[in-house]
Amino acid sequence: MTLARWIDFTTVTDARGHLVAAEVERHIPFDIRRVYYLRDLKAGEPRGFHAHKALQQVAVCVAGSCNLLLDDGHARETVRCGDPARGLYIGPMVWHEMYDFSPDCVLLVFASAEYDESDYLRSYDVFAAALKHPPQPAAFIHRLSDIAPGATVGAGSRVEQYVVIRNGAAVGGDCNICAHVLIEGDTRIGDRVTLKSGVRVCDGVTLEDDVIVSSNVIFTNDPLPRSYVRPEAFSRTVVRRGARVGANATILPGVTIGEFAIVGAGSVVTRDVPPRAVVYGSPARVGRELASGA
Ligand code: TYD
Repeated sequence: MTLARWIDFTTVTDARGHLVAAEVERHIPFDIRRVYYLRDLKAGEPRGFHAHKALQQVAVCVAGSCNLLLDDGHARETVRCGDPARGLYIGPMVWHEMYDFSPDCVLLVFASAEYDESDYLRSYDVFAAALKHPPQPAAFIHRLSDIAPGATVGAGSRVEQYVVIRNGAAVGGDCNICAHVLIEGDTRIGDRVTLKSGVRVCDGVTLEDDVIVSSNVIFTNDPLPRSYVRPEAFSRTVVRRGARVGANATILPGVTIGEFAIVGAGSVVTRDVPPRAVVYGSPARVGRELASGA
């Protein structure tokens, strides 16, 4: 497999010359936070000699040409950059070196973040060691989500578009929080939890590790709600480890759904669900019990 991933930009050519356009998403696979370029380069003065921990870049020789060496710790590859209509993607944890610049070379770089010296690995030995013990990936937080400053999201989790997470909420690691989820502040969400689109996790809810909650499931926390009257305390609802809640279910306040239980789609859960039970209907009743949690 080749290390070099080329991105062809859009070129508009007419009698007056060429116009080259690069767009975020269509061409550049990240939001551009910085653009810089290298010019007046000396053929015998190589540059680079570093990798980035997290930064993504696309480099394009808008004039002239140069060699670019890529090394991901397993393979090394050198490519000649010289086509101003295509960029070279340089991902995180790829050692790179540039050399043999033509006198007219201008190397333009689109980058996914502002300059940050702490993102550099400037020694090959340190780079090689970091490959052996990769840092846990930070959570992916979509720019169209709204995470309050007092909420936490663990490493490796993904938070997609239009998710709202309020102050105080704690979301664990490796979770998948799909678009349009609301998580209120007095909530605890374990590791590897999946919340499909439209789920509402209200104050008082705990979701333990490995729980999956399908689309449009609604948790409730106030048995007798009155507009503008906030109860002194919300009912506590717990979904135990490995339980699965089907789409469009409604979970009434204060129930516990046992380990590895399954709540059928569209159910209204009015009382506790035993571990490994399969419940469905309105009100949800036990249909059968699972032999194991798998
Ligand atoms: P560096 O990324 O090490 O480039 P090269 O490997 O081609 O020499 O950057 C060289 C210097 O420029 C270094 O001191 C950091 C500084 N710098 C910035 O201030 N802002 C930037 O956006 C970049 C890329 C570098």
